[in-house]
Amino acid sequence: MSTPLLEVNELVAGFQTPDGWLRAVDKVSFTVRRGETLGIVGESGCGKSVTAMSLIDLLPKPAGKVLGGDVHFEGHQLRGMDEKSLHSIRGGEIGVIFQEPMTALNPVMRIGKQMIEGLIRHNPEMTKQEALEESVRLLKRVGIPAPEVRINDYPHQLSGGMRQRVMIAMAISCKPKLLIADEPTTALDVTVQAQILNLLEELQEEYGMAIIMITHDLGVVAETCDDVIVMYGGRVVESAPVDLIFNSPRHAYTKGLLASLPTLSDAPKTALPTIPGQVASLSEFVIGCRYCQRLGKTGVEVKTRPVFGRIAQDHWVENCPECVQ
Ligand SMILES: Nc1ncnc2c1ncn2[C@@H]1O[C@H](COP(=O)(O)OP(=O)(O)OP(=O)(O)O)[C@@H](O)[C@H]1O
Ligand SMILES: [Mg+2]
Repeated sequence: MSTPLLEVNELVAGFQTPDGWLRAVDKVSFTVRRGETLGIVGESGCGKSVTAMSLIDLLPKPAGKVLGGDVHFEGHQLRGMDEKSLHSIRGGEIGVIFQEPMTALNPVMRIGKQMIEGLIRHNPEMTKQEALEESVRLLKRVGIPAPEVRINDYPHQLSGGMRQRVMIAMAISCKPKLLIADEPTTALDVTVQAQILNLLEELQEEYGMAIIMITHDLGVVAETCDDVIVMYGGRVVESAPVDLIFNSPRHAYTKGLLASLPTLSDAPKTALPTIPGQVASLSEFVIGCRYCQRLGKTGVEVKTRPVFGRIAQDHWVENCPECVQ
């Protein structure tokens, strides 16, 4: 078997607050195989974006910081890599689609100028004319109509779906081996969402790139992912190929997420089951099982951290005796 494209081992990341350093990501480990899609799923605030941004050192500075662990990309340790090398990997071999396109795009710069600058930064031998032609080609590839005209637009002149297409065009412009897509379709209506997911799938085949698909939507996971990690409270509670996550989930949290999905056999207007309780804040998290904490348990299960262990081939779970039965 070939080595994975990305190997993340016990990644820890957090933020400096008046209460000291708080861990938003607490020893997260996973691998991404070449050309495949790994889903990172979990409710809001469970640490999906912080995990993704930590990989390429993009946490907001100075408050955010990677505090521990290893990140190997193509065998190279990204942690501690000098900013210049990391910069060339970011936007080069690793492309990113950010959760909020309006914050990722410069609002006062025409999209063409932003694309041309990005292309020349990563391909210094490229002339401005070549970069312009390549930008038009990329915009056309991601389905922007009349790209030679729209390239002169400012981001606010584009619809949400079109902005997301521009973000994708920028992210794939250097033919990345890995694309990090942070909630790429959350802000879009369902029809546009399906178009964007199809586009990503086509581009994945064309470029042979791997994707980290971050989403809280299990429908998106089912449609796009090969493997899945389920996060809760800054930790991975379950990790498996997508069919096992859907057909043989082992952790109570994964089961809770799946139970809150609507099915066609539900009678109309049936209330969906919800996961009880609320996610604790970073400063309140227990050492032990955080899902037990959410359910209001106070015993030994919230006092010692359950071991994240393998229960079957490719199937890993945070082995809390209360949550895994
Ligand atoms: N800049 C920051 N300063 C302090 N805490 C932060 C910062 N960014 C994120 N956090 C905290 O880190 C935790 C994880 O946040 P993260 O953004 O990774 O969640 P997420 O899983 O991506 O959620 P969502 O689905 O809403 O995007 C949360 O508790 C969040 O409040
Ligand atoms: Mg997020």
